This record gives sequence, structure tokens and C-alpha cells, in this order.
Amino acid sequence: MIFKWKDNFSIGIEEIDKQHKRLFEIGGEIYNLAILKDGQDHYDEIIRLLNSLKDYTVYHFGFEENLMKKYNYEDIEKHKGQHDKFIEKLNEIETQDIDSRQKKVVLDILDFVINWISSHILGSDFKYKDIIK
Ligand SMILES: [Fe+2]
Ligand SMILES: [Fe+2]
Repeated sequence: MIFKWKDNFSIGIEEIDKQHKRLFEIGGEIYNLAILKDGQDHYDEIIRLLNSLKDYTVYHFGFEENLMKKYNYEDIEKHKGQHDKFIEKLNEIETQDIDSRQKKVVLDILDFVINWISSHILGSDFKYKDIIK
């Protein structure tokens, strides 16, 4: 399972790890929805997941950015730029016609979250761990 948490994903800051684990959980739910082949209408679930993803992401990004500010992390602007792009992308998905393109939208979100975890959480977030820890 792609969204299975592994110990080496930990950046060693308990609260951040907890939040990242929650994001993995949401990723797992998106994955479960993406692999369903029941031909049913999943519009409500897609909207629910998209909202959870967005709400939790906004909360998590704010939390990280506050920590970075507190510890004067030098790359904060670049990091924040990546956060803003992520939210922008989620907003963009929301404006699309989701109902008639459910499968495509779920796969897009899945693809996007997988990329984001590997490039941002396991890349950019790892860069700040030593400064903040
Ligand atoms: Fe993060
Ligand atoms: Fe981040």
C-alpha cells in the first residue's frame, strides 16, 4: 500500500509526524476510492475527501510555517511557496466539473497527493527538520 507510514518518514518532531500520518491516512482513503470499480456514484465521498484534504492541509501548512518563523528557517519563503501551490491546485480541482468526471478527478487527486508526499513531505519537509528539532 502506497500510503503505509514507515518509520523513516519521520522527521523527528512529534506533532509534525502526527500531522503527516494523518495526511497519509487521507491519502489512503483517496486511494481506496480510486481503486473501486463498482460503477457507483461517489460524488459525495469525493467532495468529503477533497474537503478533508484541504482543511487538514491548510491547518498543517499553517502549523509548519509558524514553526519555521519561530526558528528563523532561512528557506521559509520557498517552502511556503510550495504550500501555496498545493492549496491553489486543490482550489483548482474544486472548480472543475467533478460530478461528470468522478474517476478522472479521483485519479488526478491521487496522483497529485502521491507526488506531493514524495517531493514535499519526504523532500522539502526533511530539509527543515534539523533546524527545528
Ligand atoms: Fe509537511
Ligand atoms: Fe511543508
